[in-house]
Amino acid sequence: MKSKPLNMMTALAAGLAMSAGAVAADPDATLVINGEIPIVTRTEAPAHLEGALDEIRSGWTFRTKETQALQMDDFENPGMGPAEEAMTVWETADGTEGKSCADCHGAVEDGMKGVRAVYPKWVESAGEVRSIEQMINECRTTRMGAEEWQYIGSEMVNMTALISSVSRGMPMNVAIDGPAAETWAKGKEIYYTRFGQLDLSCANCHEENFDNYIRADHLSMGMTNGFPTYRLKNTKLNAVHDRFKGCIRDTRGVPFGVGSPEFVALELYVASRGNGLSVEGPSVRN
Ligand code: HEC
Ligand code: HEC
Repeated sequence: MKSKPLNMMTALAAGLAMSAGAVAADPDATLVINGEIPIVTRTEAPAHLEGALDEIRSGWTFRTKETQALQMDDFENPGMGPAEEAMTVWETADGTEGKSCADCHGAVEDGMKGVRAVYPKWVESAGEVRSIEQMINECRTTRMGAEEWQYIGSEMVNMTALISSVSRGMPMNVAIDGPAAETWAKGKEIYYTRFGQLDLSCANCHEENFDNYIRADHLSMGMTNGFPTYRLKNTKLNAVHDRFKGCIRDTRGVPFGVGSPEFVALELYVASRGNGLSVEGPSVRN
């Protein structure tokens, strides 16, 4: 074991015993989607993680063989059905302007290629760092005259799955400098802040204890390159802020709101920890 969990006592008290696992997945397995999209699931950590991590690993490398296999073929990937449903939405006019996403952005595989890899990002016209969800809702309200979608609702998550799917295989590459630097620093601070009755930070679990087990869960590095993720546990696509919320709840803490500036900042910081891993979404996880 690399390092002992810092909060072994509180964790134990809460029944969150961490241990080295028994049924670890093959860490050297490689992921190629549909036999044609090679995915980088392990690579050198970005420079800003010096002293924290040498290598970064996608959550895929921590899952069982069976779960891993579901992501190798789009016909097996239960996250692809919802993404295909969003294709119809992409092409259908909505709102008072009578416009569809396709009217302005063209074919999704052209207009949205590479977008997932660079978000969250500084958006000049908005004067702030924005998530893909925020961009979509702005298009819906100000450009289409349509209703906003719920931030972690199914229309939104299906659409982000579609948008993500056309960037699969491209390296995550969010910018952390320039006008994004301040938001990134805020996200970093949140990442290392301890939450809840268990007094645990994201780093306590995902940086210091990845590869250990917490209850039955094989702890990953908590990367976001696979989002949205289809979870076998709740049998639906899950948005990244939904996952952040769940992780803070697990510490018995009170999460920030989905779509809040805090979660967008955290999303930027966590995405930057995965810079260099391939976009995988929609991925399959436990
Ligand atoms: C009337 C034209 C129009 C429509 C319709 C429209 N968009 Fe947009 N969209 C834009 C423009 C213009 C931008 C660039 C905004 C900016 O950078 O400030 C944009 C930006 C985006 C971005 C960020 C892309 C990037 O490269 O940073 C996403 C994602 C997006 N739109 C998704 C959608 C989706 C999904 C729909 C349909 C629900 C949609 N848009 C409908 C015009 C439109
Ligand atoms: C008590 C330990 C714990 C803490 C603290 C915690 N997580 Fe998690 N997290 C988990 C577990 C368990 C999972 C599911 C297994 C896995 O992927 O690691 C998970 C999964 C994730 C995933 C999904 C990874 C994937 O590949 O799909 C992300 C992203 C994530 N956590 C981010 C965070 C962030 C950000 C924080 C801090 C706000 C945080 N976690 C705090 C335990 C924790």
